[in-house]
Amino acid sequence: MRRVVSLLALFCGVVVAVCAQIPHPQNAGAQNQAPAGSSAGAPAGAEAVPTPTLPPVPHETLISGVWREGKAVFSDVELLDIFTPYARGYKPEQPIKFNHRIHVEKNHMECQYCHSSVSKSSVASIPSTELCMGCHKLVRTDRPDIKILKDHFDKQKPVEWEPVNNLPEHAHFNHERHVKGGVGCQSCHGLVQKMDVVEKVSSLKMGFCVSCHRDRGVTIDCAACHY
Ligand code: HEC
Ligand code: HEC
Ligand code: HEC
Ligand code: HEC
Ligand code: HEC
Repeated sequence: MRRVVSLLALFCGVVVAVCAQIPHPQNAGAQNQAPAGSSAGAPAGAEAVPTPTLPPVPHETLISGVWREGKAVFSDVELLDIFTPYARGYKPEQPIKFNHRIHVEKNHMECQYCHSSVSKSSVASIPSTELCMGCHKLVRTDRPDIKILKDHFDKQKPVEWEPVNNLPEHAHFNHERHVKGGVGCQSCHGLVQKMDVVEKVSSLKMGFCVSCHRDRGVTIDCAACHY
């Protein structure tokens, strides 16, 4: 079912993508004009000079990309996501009440101690029960959640953590590239170190990805993310 919906969405998106290649009448020729009202603070008689907030993007890039000002259009509509795991603010209950604030902020553990493949592979990985038990053989062994953890460990059964951040199948993301490129976890996941329960902070929509890529001069070639 999800596959059908995602294919349907892809199809609609392509239609919109193609339409978006046609210059919008309001954009055509209006690129160098300051928006109305922006010259309010300028000295009288001086010509209104638009203050660019983004580095200039070559025109060819703008028209070959779907998203003109680095802001996505159709695929960024989040309304349809509200009741799905793609919604911002999605915060599923986990089988064990693992708490990032306690481990990271209070006990100063590094993200990569647990998410150890994040700088070596496309996925960040969730730690095994062995890693948890390295401490919890001794720490807080009387607590109900640690008993559940120990039970999984004894039976060699992985904990079925509920995924929080998800991309549809047609889009590919790679952690290693971002970590090596110096993009911090927080740019996409927010202040995880302060979260009692992890929640999805960014939309992870195409416009979110592409606008940062534009700002930093990284590729916005469709095939980089869709293959
Ligand atoms: C002690 C181990 C540990 C440390 C340290 C840790 N995490 Fe986690 N992390 C987990 C576990 C276990 C889960 C899965 C359960 C959950 O979602 O709370 C998780 C889940 C996540 C998720 C959600 C995964 C998903 O399904 O989308 C993100 C994002 C995340 N961690 C980021 C971070 C960041 C950023 C840091 C450092 C600031 C960090 N983690 C430090 C163990 C850890
Ligand atoms: C480096 C040691 C260490 C590792 C590794 C570790 N923890 Fe912890 N954990 C602690 C400490 C210390 C506390 C108690 C923190 C406090 O209360 O200040 C704690 C507390 C907890 C609690 C809260 C228990 C309670 O009810 O008070 C849970 C649940 C928990 N950890 C689960 C996990 C899971 C799941 C993992 C593996 C993903 C993990 N921990 C990995 C050290 C660790
Ligand atoms: C540029 C944005 C971005 C950055 C930076 C980023 N992530 Fe992610 N993260 C994502 C996306 C997108 C997903 C969902 C991937 C998917 O569904 O294919 C994800 C998924 C995850 C997951 C769950 C699935 C998995 O890959 O195992 C964890 C855990 C996670 N991230 C941790 C981290 C940690 C830790 C860091 C920093 C070292 C980090 N992320 C940096 C965007 C990012
Ligand atoms: C906060 C900024 C930022 C965000 C948000 C971001 N990226 Fe990136 N991305 C980068 C940077 C910087 C690089 C280049 C890293 C390097 O130097 O290799 C990169 C590289 C990539 C690459 C490799 C490109 C290549 O040259 O082959 C892919 C694929 C990619 N990102 C996908 C995504 C996807 C998918 C998302 C959204 C879920 C996303 N990115 C969100 C900053 C970002
Ligand atoms: C930096 C990564 C990145 C690049 C480059 C990129 N996309 Fe995407 N695209 C995504 C992500 C992530 C999604 C999933 C967003 C979502 O959940 O709706 C997506 C979704 C889509 C969709 C589905 C829209 C929807 O509503 O579901 C279409 C169609 C699409 N992209 C076409 C393109 C085309 C055409 C290009 C080249 C001009 C392109 N993409 C370039 C990351 C990218």
